[in-house]
Amino acid sequence: MSGAPVAIAAQVVRWQAEHGRNQLPWQNTRDAYRVWLSEIMLQQTQVATVREYYARFLARFPDVRRLAAAPLDEVLALWSGLGYYSRARNLHRCAQIVVQRHGGEFPRTVAELAALPGIGRSTAGAIAAFCFGVRAPIMDANVRRVLTRVLGFGADLAEARNERALWSLAEALLPDADLGSAMPRYTQGLMDLGAGICLPKKPSCMLCPLQQACVARSAGDPERYPVRTRRLKRSAQAWWLLLRQDEGGRLWLERRPPAGIWAGLYCPPVYASRHELDAALAPAAGSAVQDLPGFTHVLTHRDLHLHPVLACGGGAPSATQCAEATAADWFTPGEWQGLGLPAPVRRLLDGLPLAAPEN
Ligand code: ADE
Ligand code: SF4
Repeated sequence: MSGAPVAIAAQVVRWQAEHGRNQLPWQNTRDAYRVWLSEIMLQQTQVATVREYYARFLARFPDVRRLAAAPLDEVLALWSGLGYYSRARNLHRCAQIVVQRHGGEFPRTVAELAALPGIGRSTAGAIAAFCFGVRAPIMDANVRRVLTRVLGFGADLAEARNERALWSLAEALLPDADLGSAMPRYTQGLMDLGAGICLPKKPSCMLCPLQQACVARSAGDPERYPVRTRRLKRSAQAWWLLLRQDEGGRLWLERRPPAGIWAGLYCPPVYASRHELDAALAPAAGSAVQDLPGFTHVLTHRDLHLHPVLACGGGAPSATQCAEATAADWFTPGEWQGLGLPAPVRRLLDGLPLAAPEN
C-alpha cells in the first residue's frame, strides 16, 4: 500500500526539480515581501491573472516600506479586478505592522507570520518554507486534494478534528533533511502536482511521482477525495445602481461602508428595488433616465443581479442616499479611473457615453 513518508517527500522534491514550475515570477527569490505578495494574490486568483497584477504591484511598491507608506486607496486601485478586497486591506495593514513592529523585516516563524493580518496557517507555512526553509506544511485546495488522495484520507473535512488530523499527517510527510533547499521544492512540488497532475477530475496518475504510494489510485477512486459534506448556501440579491451623471460628464460615486460587499470601494448609490431608486431620483426632476442592460456578478456566496440606471442632469442626489456611505462626491472620468472600483463597476463605467444619452 503506502510507501514510507520519507520516500514521498523525496519523490516530490525530485519530480519538482525536473517537471515542476521553476520560472514563475515569484520564484528564485527568498525575499519574503515578494513571496508574501504572490501568496496573498494566489489565495483566490489564478496564476495567469496574478502574473500581470504582481508585476504592476511590484513596479509601484517595490518593497514593504513603500507599500506601508502608500494610501489605502492607491492599493485598492491597483488591486481593482482581483476581487476579494479584504485581501488588499489586510495586505496594507500587514505591511504597516511589518514596518512598525518588525523593523521592515518579515518574521521567520509560522506562528509570528500567522499572527499578521491576511496570513493564515497555510500562507504562513508557504512563506516560511519558501523563504526560510522552515519545516512547515501548507494546505490550499490543490495540496489538500493531493494529500487526501495519496493518504486515502476519507474523513469529512467539514469537521474540524479531521482537518486537524490531516494537518498532522501533512506535517509528518515533510522532508527532514536539507531543509533549506528541500522545503521550497517540496512545497512548490505539492502545489505543482495539484495544479497540473492531480486534477479534480481525471487526475494524470500515470505521470504522477506518487503513483506507487498513492492509496486512492490503488483503490481506483481518486475523485472520491477530498471528502467535505458541508455545502455553502448560495443566495441571490438584486442591486439597482443609480449612475448619476451631471452636465459636465461627472459621475456621482459613494464609498461603500467598511464592511460587507465591496467594502471601502467606490460605487454608484445602490438600491434594493427599482421603486427605491425612483424615490431617490424623484426630487431631481428633469433628469433624462435610461435603463442600461442588467447583468449578474458572481461573488463567493452570492449572485448579484445588477440593474444599472443612468440619469443625466438634475443635480446632486439627496443626502439620504449616501447615509450608509463614508464619502460621496462627483468625479470626472479622469478622477474615477484612479479610484478603487469593483471590477464590474469599472467595466460598466468604462462603457458609459461621456455626455447626456440623447446621442
Ligand atoms: N498558488 C499558491 N502559491 C503558489 C505558488 N507559489 N506557485 C503557484 N501557484 C501557487
Ligand atoms: Fe493524485 Fe493520481 Fe498522483 Fe494519487 S497517483 S496523487 S490520485 S495524481
